Amino acid sequence: MTSIPLVIVGASGHGREVAAAARMVAAADLAWGSVSGFLDDAPDLLGTTIGTLQVVGTTREASHRRLRALLGVGYPEVKSLLFRRIADDVVEWPILIHPHASIGDRVSIGRGSFVQAGCILTCDIQIAEFVTINCGATVNHDVSVARLATLSPGVHIGGNVSIGEGAFVGIGASVKQGIAIGEWSIIAAGAAVTADVPANAVVGGVPACIIKTRKPGWHLE
Ligand SMILES: CC(C)(COP(=O)(O)OP(=O)(O)OC[C@H]1O[C@@H](n2cnc3c(N)ncnc32)[C@H](O)[C@@H]1OP(=O)(O)O)[C@@H](O)C(=O)NCCC(=O)NCCS
Repeated sequence: MTSIPLVIVGASGHGREVAAAARMVAAADLAWGSVSGFLDDAPDLLGTTIGTLQVVGTTREASHRRLRALLGVGYPEVKSLLFRRIADDVVEWPILIHPHASIGDRVSIGRGSFVQAGCILTCDIQIAEFVTINCGATVNHDVSVARLATLSPGVHIGGNVSIGEGAFVGIGASVKQGIAIGEWSIIAAGAAVTADVPANAVVGGVPACIIKTRKPGWHLE
């Protein structure tokens, strides 16, 4: 078992879900080790207990100590901020796959990514780094998901779909086969995406239409 402490960055509701999944993985694989606590930059959280874990420091700890870390946030713009701030300071970003997820053949998953309970990833799928695939999402054959993207609970992604960097697919949305979703776009909750989505667009409805367009680089503000 490694002696490098494992922390969760972000003591949000999603962070507590990451803690629960990590606990289940550690129960099945002792090499994982248990989570030491949360890192969070909110000053009022330091020293408090969130769920069953204490907030043991801020993200500054990542550059001061040798740590392994899991991302406790799901919104791509927040992941992007943390990525720029601490990605290379952390010794290791383990891949977290909930024991109740189904991962098929030739599925690659990058560092720091999280696949939640109930997800089904069928075959020939590329998941890049720091991707979040939330509860019950299904991803079909020949899909690529670029780094920092998030699939919310209950999302369904058809075959041959590409999802750009930092794209956010809202809860319950469906994406038809063969669609390209642009980087840093947002798919509204419950949308049915039947046409390609441009970068930085916010789309919603059935079928999905453009609600608004954000300026390029909005996630860096
Ligand atoms: C689409 C979304 C990003 C828009 O949020 P916003 O930028 O704050 O915009 P607003 O709430 O002001 O809504 C803007 C317009 O989009 C419409 N809209 C909002 N959500 C919508 C949805 N899910 N489907 C269709 N239209 C939607 C609003 O009715 C509004 O229309 P109007 O201008 O004609 O009045 C947001 O509503 C959404 O669906 N987010 C996803 C949340 C999610 O899935 N979270 C997962 C948690 S695990």
